[in-house]
Amino acid sequence: MLFLILLLKCIDCAIIESQTIRLRQSCQSRQTGYFWNGQQCLRCKSPNCQCQSQGGCTSCIENYYYDKEDTNCKPCPKGCQNCCKNPLLTQYVCTLCQSGYRNINGVCVFMGRCAMISMHGRCIECDQGYYVDFEFVCRPCGQGCENCSNLAFCNKCQDGYYLVNLQQNLVCKPCSIIGCQTCQKDVCQECQRGYYQDNTNSCIPCIKDCDSCLNNSECEVCNYYSIVNEDKTKCNRCQDLFPNCMDCNTKFNEDESSYFECAYCLNGYFYNEDEKKCQTCIENEQNTAHIRRCESLEMITQCQPGYLLLQDRYIDFKQEIPYLLKYTCIKNNYNCATINDQNGYCKSCLIGYILLIEDSTQKCITCKEKAQNCLDCYITPKNVFQCIQCAEGYFLESDGKTCSSCGDNCIRCNDKMKQCDICKDGYIQLNGVCDSCGVDNCKSCQIQNFCSNCEDGYGAIDGQCKLCQFGCKQCNFNQQLCQQCMDNYFLYMKSCVPYPVHCLETNDDGFCYLCETIIDYDTRLDQFIDEGSEIPNYKESSISIFYKSVNGYCLKCSDYDTGQYFCPDTCLNTIHSYEIMLVFLWLFHIIL
Ligand SMILES: *[C@@H]1O[C@H](CO)[C@@H](O)[C@H](O)[C@H]1NC(C)=O
Ligand SMILES: *[C@@H]1O[C@H](CO)[C@@H](O)[C@H](O)[C@H]1NC(C)=O
Repeated sequence: MLFLILLLKCIDCAIIESQTIRLRQSCQSRQTGYFWNGQQCLRCKSPNCQCQSQGGCTSCIENYYYDKEDTNCKPCPKGCQNCCKNPLLTQYVCTLCQSGYRNINGVCVFMGRCAMISMHGRCIECDQGYYVDFEFVCRPCGQGCENCSNLAFCNKCQDGYYLVNLQQNLVCKPCSIIGCQTCQKDVCQECQRGYYQDNTNSCIPCIKDCDSCLNNSECEVCNYYSIVNEDKTKCNRCQDLFPNCMDCNTKFNEDESSYFECAYCLNGYFYNEDEKKCQTCIENEQNTAHIRRCESLEMITQCQPGYLLLQDRYIDFKQEIPYLLKYTCIKNNYNCATINDQNGYCKSCLIGYILLIEDSTQKCITCKEKAQNCLDCYITPKNVFQCIQCAEGYFLESDGKTCSSCGDNCIRCNDKMKQCDICKDGYIQLNGVCDSCGVDNCKSCQIQNFCSNCEDGYGAIDGQCKLCQFGCKQCNFNQQLCQQCMDNYFLYMKSCVPYPVHCLETNDDGFCYLCETIIDYDTRLDQFIDEGSEIPNYKESSISIFYKSVNGYCLKCSDYDTGQYFCPDTCLNTIHSYEIMLVFLWLFHIIL
């Protein structure tokens, strides 16, 4: 008997272990937006990032850049595929534009239908179906025309059209026969794909999903999405052959004919190899809603977001091995990260929550929920709530559970004596209470009615706060003698002088060593200004301008009109690497 129990225990362990590995692998194979916390597949901070914890992203997917301050992935500007930000530049810069856009000094400029532009920003060749007009703008050819020299002169018509000479113009006219690809006037020469030509000069559709046929009962070649059946009377799509299959693989027989094999079933279904069918994860189909994946009947491997996978054990004496595991998806009401498989109780909480057992139920709560103004807390092994840190202006009472106010205008106070240690700007601590300094624009004082430190732009002079000169941040003792300047000003002969034009940083002598980058960027729309969708506009104001420090002055370092480029390194050290695996794109589809 003992032996049997030991044996069962081991089987049990092995099942759980392999189950966990499979779960983890399934989570990790998703590449982005999710991470494995040991028991669950949790979401990253944003769906566009790869992460190891909920705290932040480690890298971003394509079309997104990593914002270091926000530790989050943010979208690159419109038309940009890869972008980065050099810490010295004021804006981020595109390193690779999407097709249809051209990279001009780090900005993706919409090219419209232009296929090639000259050094001077003029379009010299357009996409198919467009021609360059006298303004160097791409205009569409006439109706049905595939290639034209101008509106009046078509070189080649689209399928379903034929070329006619009409009042000295070469234009395209539609074939009068439905389903015809090439025609001369009313005579069809060749039918479109999916049609066949009969003796009466008309094109007749083949059966559904058939590309090529000789009559409307048999199909010779099915379209890309389907495979012809044995007697050639039907083109079968993946889902026709495998209901509830998400996607099929196309396989080939020795005679080079092809067949489908279901690759992935829809959520809530698994592929039964023996029966070659997608079957529901659990017998009772009404309960499948919360299931995302399973690998065999009743063997759920993943739940929908917001649900936790519970591995339940029970004994079934009818079975050969009576000790069984049962998997269910239970609603995650309490922000649980992991659950106890024995009883289904919450074992640990998501970040930002702590586990509390109250009235014999497990709850993940925030510190603030338990104690107002408590920022950080924990639960002792004896299940007692303990606040560690209170919000600014509050102190922790000796019970360790309550945050009480320090009193008016107090930022920090001594919890024992209930006395204020640090007062708000403009207040002074007197006998443990905060009292106003009594001076306008005062930041701090040692004695009431005598300011020692004024707000920015004011100088402490004889205990009063006096307005400094323009651009000056601090002018203690003398309004005329500045000690520190505001941003964008530098100190010169005790006065504040604005930085040279286009300059971001100077040394003490006003020598500019860091110049600005101007990228025309519409922050409201979070995208670059697109100069119309049809007509490309290459005005310099609509693109980026870099300035470079030359002898302390900022000189424009690119000149698009003359085709000269002297641009700074836009992206010094790439902030992170992009790891994209298109192979897993299908997994995205499952997630979304
Ligand atoms: C369009 O026609 C012109 C003149 O016949 C030819 O030089 C050009 O290659 C054609 N373009 C395309 C895209 O077929
Ligand atoms: C249809 O065309 C196939 C050849 O693709 C031929 O074998 C078959 O007999 C034709 N059926 C009819 C009804 O004409």
